[in-house]
Amino acid sequence: MNGSLAANEVLLKGIREGVENAGAPVNCTIAVCPSFPYLVQVSQALAGSPISWGAQDVSLQESGAFTGEVSAAMLNDFNCAWALVGHSERRALHGETSEQVALKAKAALAHHITPVVCVGETLQDREQGNTLAVIQAQLAPVLALGEQAVNKMVIAYEPVWAIGTGLTASPEQAQEVHAYIRAQLNAIGAGNVQILYGGSVKAANAGSLFAMNDIDGALVGGAALVAEEFLNITTA
Ligand code: PGA
Repeated sequence: MNGSLAANEVLLKGIREGVENAGAPVNCTIAVCPSFPYLVQVSQALAGSPISWGAQDVSLQESGAFTGEVSAAMLNDFNCAWALVGHSERRALHGETSEQVALKAKAALAHHITPVVCVGETLQDREQGNTLAVIQAQLAPVLALGEQAVNKMVIAYEPVWAIGTGLTASPEQAQEVHAYIRAQLNAIGAGNVQILYGGSVKAANAGSLFAMNDIDGALVGGAALVAEEFLNITTA
């Protein structure tokens, strides 16, 4: 829940100019995901640029009496290419279950939106040695959607203890979980799905994370609010 019309204008201009002047990095997809009210602004500011956009959440419902919800069809009206689903803050603060997260991913796919399915353990999970079990439980209903659906998704591993805390997982800690997620994806024939890491990613640590075998990109929060920092992550 960051941003305003004025702040977004500066940020989007900076990101767009940076990418257009430097040329979009090869083999790199760049997207921004604003809060819902700013989708019009973002779609206008980025139209015709190499940068795509998405939403931070989507309803699992198709339409109807669900006041406050935003459907995948509505997002599609604004040419959203992406929708985050199951961000840890949605799970923790809004009680979203892994089953609901899977239904959100399904709803997005039905409207040609790529869901970015977020999973991650809490510090307590990690300290109790439950990291991989938690990831498996979060992924299970998503993987149950089947090979075809999962091949159209992106997965983001975001350890809850690393989000917004300045505590990044070490590249090795992240890689261990990414390799586990890759194995789970492989088992259903979706081994080529992109797996992003998120949690205090910044320009200074992005390169060492991206050097890991199974880390395909980043889901960036705080560092994405400064154009130069965000751009430096895209070229790390
Ligand atoms: P952060 O946020 O990069 O500020 O840790 C990540 C996120 O909210 O997904």
